[in-house]
Amino acid sequence: MSDKKDTKRDDLDYETTGHSWDGIEEYNKPLPRWWLMVFYATIIWGVGYTIAYPAWPGVRSATAGLLGWSTRGAVAEEISAQEAKLAPINEQLASVELTSIASDPELNGYAQNAGAAVFRTWCAQCHGSGAAGAKGYPNLLDDDWLWGGSIEDIHTTITHGIRNEDDPDARYSEMPAFGRDGLLEREQIAAVSNYVMTLSGEEPQDASLVEEGATVFADNCAACHGEDGTGDRMQGAPNLTDAIWLYGGDYATIHETVTNARFGVMPNWNARLSEAEIRAVATYVHGLGGGEASE
Ligand code: HEC
Ligand code: HEC
Repeated sequence: MSDKKDTKRDDLDYETTGHSWDGIEEYNKPLPRWWLMVFYATIIWGVGYTIAYPAWPGVRSATAGLLGWSTRGAVAEEISAQEAKLAPINEQLASVELTSIASDPELNGYAQNAGAAVFRTWCAQCHGSGAAGAKGYPNLLDDDWLWGGSIEDIHTTITHGIRNEDDPDARYSEMPAFGRDGLLEREQIAAVSNYVMTLSGEEPQDASLVEEGATVFADNCAACHGEDGTGDRMQGAPNLTDAIWLYGGDYATIHETVTNARFGVMPNWNARLSEAEIRAVATYVHGLGGGEASE
């Protein structure tokens, strides 16, 4: 049906496509020209983009794109730009006297920040994110040091590590395994363990053994831990009088330490970190609260 008298349709004056099904006609309403132009432009842009940039997945990798851009490359560029910016201050940090870092506010501030980042990445898994340590991993917040708390001592410890096999300059000492290697009798170990408890003011497990323990200590332990038990930093032998324990101060733990010894190992960081990074983290650790003045 085609009723030209239909007022509504006449008023609107739409073009039709000429198609008609049972009198139903199809208006011809093309998309606006601007819309089509944008549509075609996006197609052309899209194709161009996949040619210029990495896009189509292949078996091993995606097409590289004519511009040679990659996310990896972009990150590498950003990193090297950042490194170039920091190169002068890193060079300064790596070359000044260790003891003068703290007195240069700019250098010290930089070292503290950079050192905190190094610590989070490389040290926190053993020493704890807050540096409070754990059994066998010393607390770096207090002023109790196994190997020394001056900036030079800390720098040496971090650079070469402790009892590792990779650096001949690593700090080294070895407490004998008095029980395992049969250097002391069982009773002597029980005695000296009781004596060690008294050194830090603990109640011994068996007070009657303390006197004998003192003799065992003088004969077997004093060479490293000192006659008074205050330790020896040259050998990393802990102070046994301060109630700060690396492994533990209860009878069972002391007994175990004397029987089998411990041998705590820390990696050398000169293999993995730059001198500037080592100095930054040394400055950070020194500034945590227990840092000592240099002699
Ligand atoms: C794999 C574990 C491990 C990691 C990682 C580690 N340490 Fe240690 N660190 C140790 C152990 C174990 C000791 C104690 C060794 C001993 O008994 O003498 C130690 C000791 C130290 C000491 C000596 C403390 C003292 O009382 O003299 C310092 C300083 C230190 N670490 C700093 C660091 C810094 C800084 C990092 C990161 C760059 C780091 N450590 C990463 C295990 C680790
Ligand atoms: C050759 C030196 C040496 C001798 C001798 C020695 N020690 Fe040690 N001792 C150490 C060192 C070094 C450590 C640090 C632990 C490690 O090896 O990781 C240590 C650790 C300890 C600890 C653990 C302290 C803590 O904080 O948990 C105890 C306890 C101890 N020694 C007791 C003794 C007793 C008792 C004797 C004598 C029977 C003795 N030591 C003899 C070097 C020595």
